Amino acid sequence: MTDLKGAYALQTPEDSKRLYADWAATYDSSFADAHGYVSPQAVADAFAAKNCPGPVLDIGAGTGLVGVALAHRNIGPIDGTDIAPEMLAEAALKDVYDRLFEGNVLDRLDVDDATYSGIVSAGTFTHGHVGPAAFDELLRVAKPGAWLVLSVNAEHYVADGFDAKLSDIAPKIANVTMPKFRLYTSGSRGPNADDMGLMLQFQKV
Ligand SMILES: C[S@@+](CC[C@H](N)C(=O)[O-])C[C@H]1O[C@@H](n2cnc3c(N)ncnc32)[C@H](O)[C@@H]1O
Repeated sequence: MTDLKGAYALQTPEDSKRLYADWAATYDSSFADAHGYVSPQAVADAFAAKNCPGPVLDIGAGTGLVGVALAHRNIGPIDGTDIAPEMLAEAALKDVYDRLFEGNVLDRLDVDDATYSGIVSAGTFTHGHVGPAAFDELLRVAKPGAWLVLSVNAEHYVADGFDAKLSDIAPKIANVTMPKFRLYTSGSRGPNADDMGLMLQFQKV
């Protein structure tokens, strides 16, 4: 099912690959535009407030909505990675990414250690997708001093043990904040209209 209900019911990275292969062509119109999905813009605003230089890596870049929002704020260069090549093909059409590459963030990405000054993500740390186990790989590819700005579904944060993982990696990170924000515009209708995110922000030491 190519909708949010289907996406929240995913269980494995292979499930994600299949669902997003089918959803890629209509994701922007049938989901993001139709539901007033504003998480990509909120991530870009939070990242812009850090005054952090590029290069930036967009995790679970999907069709490229975060890349577009970063480019509008004159942030770059931007790379993007995603497990679903069909989503990356849509992102390439946005013409804002330097490098787009397939990757499973729960595995090892095809990126050298300490490559990025910024790491961003919207919509990927959510039910059925990616949990806090990915933080080890994010920290590997981040430069010392890099800012990580990740929108995390607030229910998923609790259910998937993000607090415990943040405690584990506490010696490697600093300046942690996670304000709540609306994932959808206040006028949005539908079963997920009032879902909240946590804008998880921290620096690699
Ligand atoms: C809801 S979409 C969000 C896309 C985009 N960031 C946005 O906000 O519109 C979630 C994305 O995460 C990707 N994804 C799911 N599991 C992944 C994994 N293990 N590694 C990398 N990407 C993954 C999916 O393919 C999908 O493109």
